[in-house]
Amino acid sequence: MGKDPIFSLRGVEFAYPGASFYALRGVDLEVSEGEWVALVGANGSGKSTLAKICNALLIPAQGDCFVMGANTREEALIPDIRRNVSLVFQNPEDQIVASIVEEDVAFGPENLGLPSSEIKRRVDRALGLAGLLNERRKGSFSLSGGQKQRLALAGALALEPAALLLDESTSMLDPEGRLSFLSCLGSLKLSGMTIVQITHRMEEAIQSDRVVVIDAGRAVWDGSPGDFFDGAYRDWSFEEPPGVALYRELLGRGLLPGGTLPDVDSMLGALCL
Ligand SMILES: Nc1ncnc2c1ncn2[C@@H]1O[C@H](COP(=O)(O)OP(=O)(O)OP(=O)(O)O)[C@@H](O)[C@H]1O
Ligand SMILES: [Mg+2]
Repeated sequence: MGKDPIFSLRGVEFAYPGASFYALRGVDLEVSEGEWVALVGANGSGKSTLAKICNALLIPAQGDCFVMGANTREEALIPDIRRNVSLVFQNPEDQIVASIVEEDVAFGPENLGLPSSEIKRRVDRALGLAGLLNERRKGSFSLSGGQKQRLALAGALALEPAALLLDESTSMLDPEGRLSFLSCLGSLKLSGMTIVQITHRMEEAIQSDRVVVIDAGRAVWDGSPGDFFDGAYRDWSFEEPPGVALYRELLGRGLLPGGTLPDVDSMLGALCL
């Protein structure tokens, strides 16, 4: 038998208490190990609700959400599910729990009651993955915005999750901070991490393996970034990211072959011809 997908949502519906409408209206979605999925959609379409369903912070009203085969309805399985799926939110400041960087990263593993040698191993590894080894003894609040968000990422990674759920984690960062954060995600992806990234920034969706569009509580489109930016994105009024505009220009001038969206190196090569 094959491995369970990391996330498997079947007919998931959810309404907030007192709400007169469903925030999620029958979502079917599977995310396999090692995939980087960009979840995109308008404000209020249900992306954050979906992320909370995937982390068992919310339980479906109808349908089921399985995390590595474990149904989030089974209360006894919830601690394991939360350990397997780490969430990183929008505001880095809100996620700081200790005044020194390495103590902040140690917070999660300490709460798991792990032995101190294991806590140290995890903190070292997570700081390395987040590119913060040189900052380990600095004050958490003295870091730049991008570093603070990488600190939140390190805290999430110290739990050694199977998947990361990122809810607009780059939206409050300056361009430099965003790039450093995304470059960490790129390395994590190469190491096999499963990433579900909610974003409004279309240029970030290009870097994913797969784009899923959420519209009014439904997953209405699911495919490769190449297919998405070849046309599907227009159906929901998403902006065309600069990389795609450049691709079209190069294509129009006959400097690139048609087909799927090329990587940055191919576009640079075409520009330098
Ligand atoms: N705690 C809550 N109580 C009641 N309704 C809520 C709550 N959180 C979200 N909603 C509603 O549920 C729907 C989906 O919200 P959700 O936050 O999942 O959307 P989103 O796609 O993440 O939006 P955004 O891009 O603005 O973050 C919206 O109509 C929203 O107003
Ligand atoms: Mg949201």
